Amino acid sequence: MEKSAEEMAKEQKEISISQFFEKNRHLLGYDNKIKALLTIVKEGVDNALDATEEAGILPDIYVKVEEIEKEKYKIVIKDNGPGIVKKQIPNIFGKLLYGSKFHRLKQNRGQQGIGISGGVLYSQLTTGKPTKIISSTGDGKDHRFTLKIDVKHNEPKIVENEVVESKEKWHGVQITFVAEGIYRGHKQSVMEYMKEVAISNPYANIIFDSPTGRIEFARGVDKLPPKAKEIKPHLYGIEVGILERMRNETKGRTVLTFLMSEFTRVGKLSAEEICKKAEIDSKISPRKLTHDDVVKIVNAIKEVKLSRPPTDCLSPLGNTAVEEGMKKELSPEFVSSLSRPPSVYRGWPFQVEVGIAYGGLITEPNLMRFANRVPLLYQLGDCAIAKAVSQVDWKRYGVPGDKMPDAPVVIFVHFASVWVPFTSESKEAIANYPVIIKEIKLALQDCARRLGLYLSGVRRAERIAQKKQIFERYAIDTAKALGELTGEAEEKIKETILKIVEEKWREIVAEEGEENEKENQKENNSKGKG
Ligand SMILES: Nc1ncnc2c1ncn2[C@@H]1O[C@H](COP(=O)(O)OP(=O)(O)OP(=O)(O)O)[C@@H](O)[C@H]1O
Ligand SMILES: [Mg+2]
Repeated sequence: MEKSAEEMAKEQKEISISQFFEKNRHLLGYDNKIKALLTIVKEGVDNALDATEEAGILPDIYVKVEEIEKEKYKIVIKDNGPGIVKKQIPNIFGKLLYGSKFHRLKQNRGQQGIGISGGVLYSQLTTGKPTKIISSTGDGKDHRFTLKIDVKHNEPKIVENEVVESKEKWHGVQITFVAEGIYRGHKQSVMEYMKEVAISNPYANIIFDSPTGRIEFARGVDKLPPKAKEIKPHLYGIEVGILERMRNETKGRTVLTFLMSEFTRVGKLSAEEICKKAEIDSKISPRKLTHDDVVKIVNAIKEVKLSRPPTDCLSPLGNTAVEEGMKKELSPEFVSSLSRPPSVYRGWPFQVEVGIAYGGLITEPNLMRFANRVPLLYQLGDCAIAKAVSQVDWKRYGVPGDKMPDAPVVIFVHFASVWVPFTSESKEAIANYPVIIKEIKLALQDCARRLGLYLSGVRRAERIAQKKQIFERYAIDTAKALGELTGEAEEKIKETILKIVEEKWREIVAEEGEENEKENQKENNSKGKG
C-alpha cells in the first residue's frame, strides 16, 4: 500500500464555500470576461429590483460600466431601496451563502444568498481590488465599507469602514466593483440584459452609463406590481425526505393539524381523506409517523384532489404587460399572449406566461426567456423553456421551421415561481422538470394557434386580392371583345364589369369576415374551457 488510511486522513478536511467557488467561478457565471461583466451587473440589478419591490418603492437604478485599464472595469450599481443596516453589510457582501431569500417561499429574483458576494469574490480574484459599498437607510448617515472576502474562512475582511454624515437623506445601496471584463454589444450582453429587464419590469427607471454612452430606460408604468405573498408548500410533488423533516419540525400536534398548517390548500376534509387513504390514524402526533407511514402519505396524496395553489403567491406580468412590452420594443404586426393557471412542481407553485409576436419590424426569430422577471441570456440548450419550444409542431400552425420558427417570430416565455429550479448557481437555465415543460408547451401551443389563425386570415386575404386583380385584368380584354361584337362603347362595358367584380369581391370579403369571426368564437370558447 503506497498510502495508508491514516496518512490519507491527514489530508481530509472541510472546504470553505468561498474556496469552492474560487476554484469553480464558472458555476457562478464567471467563465469568461464578457460574461463576467454581465453577471456582476445582473446580480447588482436583480438585488436592487428585489429590494425596492419588497420595500414598496418604485425603482430608480443607476448602472455604470467604465473601462479603467485594458480589460479592467469599474462597475457601479446604485439603487433607491431601503438600504442595508450597518451590521449586515459585511456578511452580505463578504460571505457566500448569506441572505434573506433562501428560507422563504416567495417570488424573488434572488434566492441563493450567493449572488452579490460572488461578484466581490470574482473582483478580488481577478484584480486584487476590494469592493466598495455605501448604504444609507434614510437617517442621514452613510455607512461606507471597503471589503474583501477571507476565502479560507468564508468571512468578510473589512479593509475600511466609516460613517459619514450625508447632506441628502437618501436611502439605498451603492456598490463599486473593480473586475476583469470585456464589454461587447452583442446578443448576450449587458445592453441586451438591460433592454429585456426594461420589458419585464416596466415600472423601473434605469439609467445605464455604458462604455459607449448613456442610455435611459424610462419608466413605462407608475405602479409596482401587486406584492407576491409568502406561501407554504403545496402537497403535490412533495418528497419523502422533505415530509420527514417537516413532521419533525412542525408545531402541529396531530397528523391532521400538521398537514393543514404546514401546507397550502389542505382543509380538514382533504387531510382526513389523505390519512384514510394512507391507512393512518389522523390523531397521532406527526413525530410518531414511521418511515413507512410517510411513504404511504406521499402515495395517498397522489389520489386526493387538492385545489391549485393560490395565485397571490406569484407575481406574473399579466397579458397586458407582456403584449405592451413586446409592442413597445418590437413593433410587430401581430401579438398574442397567454397565462396558464398556476401549477406545482415538487410542492412549489409556479406559473407560465407566454407571448408571441410576428412580423412588423421583426426580421428574425428570437426566443426571450425570463425567470421571475429576470432575463436569461445563457445556457439556452439546457433550459426547459427551449425544450418546450422545440417540442411544438410549428408547421401545424402555419409557421415554417423545425423546433424553432424559421420566420420573423419572437417568442417570450416568463416562468414565475416561489423557487426557480435553476440548473446551476449562475441562474441561467431552468431545469427540465416534465411538468414545467408541459405547462410551457401548452401555453405556446395556444398562442401559436392564434398566430396560425391570423396567418391563415392574412393568406386568405392575399388570395382573394390576387383573384380580384386577375378579374380586373380580364375586364379590359373582355370589354374590348364585347365592344367589337355589340358595337357598345368599350369604356362603358369595362365600367360595368369592374362594378360587378367590386360587388362580388365585397361579398367574398364579408363572408370571409364571418368565417373568421366564427373561428375566433370557437377559439375563445375552447380557451374558456381549458
Ligand atoms: N441592494 C440591496 N438592498 C437591500 N438589501 C440587499 C441588497 N442587495 C442585497 N441585499 C440583501 O443581501 C442578501 C444577499 O444578497 P445576494 O445577492 O448575495 O443573495 P440573494 O439575492 O438572496 O440570492 P442570489 O444568490 O440568488 O442572488 C439578499 O438576500 C438581501 O437580503
Ligand atoms: Mg441576489
